[in-house]
Amino acid sequence: MAPRHTLMPVPASLELADGHLAIDSTFRAALTGYSEPRLERAVARMVERLARQTGIYMGMAAPSANATLAIECDGPAPEVGSAVEDESYELVVTAARARLHAPTPYGALRGIETFLQLVELGDEGFQVPAVRIEDHPRFPWRGLLIDVARHWIPPEVIKRNLDGMAALKLNVLHWHLTEDQGFRIESKRFTKLHELGSDGKYFTQDEVRKIIEYARDRGIRVVPEFDVPGHTTSWFVGHRELASAPGPYEIERTWGIQDPAMDPTREEVYEFLDAFIGEMAELFPDPYFHIGGDEVNGVQWDANAGIQAFMREQGMADNHALQAYFNRRIQGILSKYGKTMVGWDEIFHPDLPGDIVIQSWRGQESLAESARQSYQGILSNGYYLDHMLSAAQHYQVDPLSGAAAELSPDEKERVLGGEACMWSEFVTWETIDSRIWPRAAAIAERLWSPPEVDDVEDMYRRLEVTSQRLELLGLTHRSSHERMLRRLTDYRPIDALKTLTDLLEPVKYYQRPQSREYTSLMPLNRLVDATRPESDVAREFSRMVDELLADRSHQRNAGAIEAWLVSWRDNHQRLLPLIRSSALLREAEPLSTNLQRLAELGLEALAAVRRGRRLPDSRREEQLEVLERGAQPQAELLIRVEPAVRRLLEAAHERH
Ligand code: ACM
Repeated sequence: MAPRHTLMPVPASLELADGHLAIDSTFRAALTGYSEPRLERAVARMVERLARQTGIYMGMAAPSANATLAIECDGPAPEVGSAVEDESYELVVTAARARLHAPTPYGALRGIETFLQLVELGDEGFQVPAVRIEDHPRFPWRGLLIDVARHWIPPEVIKRNLDGMAALKLNVLHWHLTEDQGFRIESKRFTKLHELGSDGKYFTQDEVRKIIEYARDRGIRVVPEFDVPGHTTSWFVGHRELASAPGPYEIERTWGIQDPAMDPTREEVYEFLDAFIGEMAELFPDPYFHIGGDEVNGVQWDANAGIQAFMREQGMADNHALQAYFNRRIQGILSKYGKTMVGWDEIFHPDLPGDIVIQSWRGQESLAESARQSYQGILSNGYYLDHMLSAAQHYQVDPLSGAAAELSPDEKERVLGGEACMWSEFVTWETIDSRIWPRAAAIAERLWSPPEVDDVEDMYRRLEVTSQRLELLGLTHRSSHERMLRRLTDYRPIDALKTLTDLLEPVKYYQRPQSREYTSLMPLNRLVDATRPESDVAREFSRMVDELLADRSHQRNAGAIEAWLVSWRDNHQRLLPLIRSSALLREAEPLSTNLQRLAELGLEALAAVRRGRRLPDSRREEQLEVLERGAQPQAELLIRVEPAVRRLLEAAHERH
């Protein structure tokens, strides 16, 4: 049986022993080997966090005193990181003391996070169980993409998410900085880029440097993405000369694939990009530089006679060849500045040199194909947080499964890891934490832990604790939910609204923009925005119903299921006055009505199942209609207990 710890990600190897190390106000941590300011700050932060975690005052630590936790680091890591760092560490805890040993500061930083996660409250006080952990990541590239362009995400939100990333041992912030909808970084070379392309919402270079420093302190690399040649409308507001059609251009306010694209045939475009990339290459120390390259629809290229003539002269068969030419030119510029190019699947082309990295949003198939062609790759397909899928669904996606499972060992080495992607069409500063956490933690575990760590139920057990710890660390994924519910009720009691929302989930994949014409200026303050991506109550209810139906006497969990169904049935009358008094809540009425009907149906089915009676066929059609209505999205939300009610009803019709 797996030991009952709450570590996330699960270490490569862990042996629990008898006994525990007490954690109290005499706690001391000391660096006993190699030291550097980054490690000193990490130790200070750790003691501070331990104090917050336990509520114990720990301000008196004398550094020279006998250390409770000795951190021994062998030596420094290279100043500018590569994609593959030694992040291994060994943590040994006995009843007397703890020792963390790591070859590099990266390992020390990872081990400190593990130590903090081991702290538990026992019957004698706070403690860390005696344990021996030897740990290292499965994949070297474990990233989180944050799109700060579709919606503006300010510096403090990035920083607290870096804290969350570090806690989960994620090590790459992929910073998606430019889009059709916004150019979110200051350029001192070309000031019209951010001045005209951002509504004034952009990161100054000072802020960028501080965020990179903040990330570095936590062992996180920062890879900037400047998406070219498409997704570039905001560049053209101030620099229409870069575009393939004359313009003029305005900041794009709608979502989707847009026509504007840079003109790959003009030398002035490369001169501009050379100067711009030179400026950014200096600002971002990481050796990797992401050029996007996705979703160029070719509309502007097809309509431009000069571009068509250029393609004929160069013997280019299609727009993909033209984009490959553009990428080769950009790759030359990046090389000059010492950067390795990263791009989305679409940049894949036999003409490109082998030292680029392909990020796959299309799947393991294209990841495997890149690896076979000697390119390194990162998986993001299956890790799109904006799809509003469950933690379990993301958890089950393995970079080396599917087509990638067939790769040779050498080819598998080229799969560097993966990235969770937080695209921001439907998130704001207020909701982004709740779309990233806690689900990104499940992806972090998939990328760090051995592949055999795959018990979904155990993952959820640890995820709940992890989620609460993240909130303590400063993330707002739990608190923002209730804060937004209070706004929706105009600060009246939210209990009834919470009863409903706890059963809901936003619609999946790209259903949301199908229900109405969204723009970037529309407020994201509705019930769907306040609702968390995954309903814990629905998962629990579903599990209880399955147990009941599997139980021979059909009594297991029956009381609890009934109590839940009764509270959902009766919730409608409690919620109606709030719905009727809030303009923002009015759209919740059909949801609440449908929940009431589903609950009534569930109670009827439950009663029949418990008594071993069969429900009459005459009612069946009408009942299926209630289910159908309950399964339909309303206000871009789904009632997630509907499938379990359906299973109850089916069972009630089968019985005799
Ligand atoms: C992408 O989703 N177009 C990278």
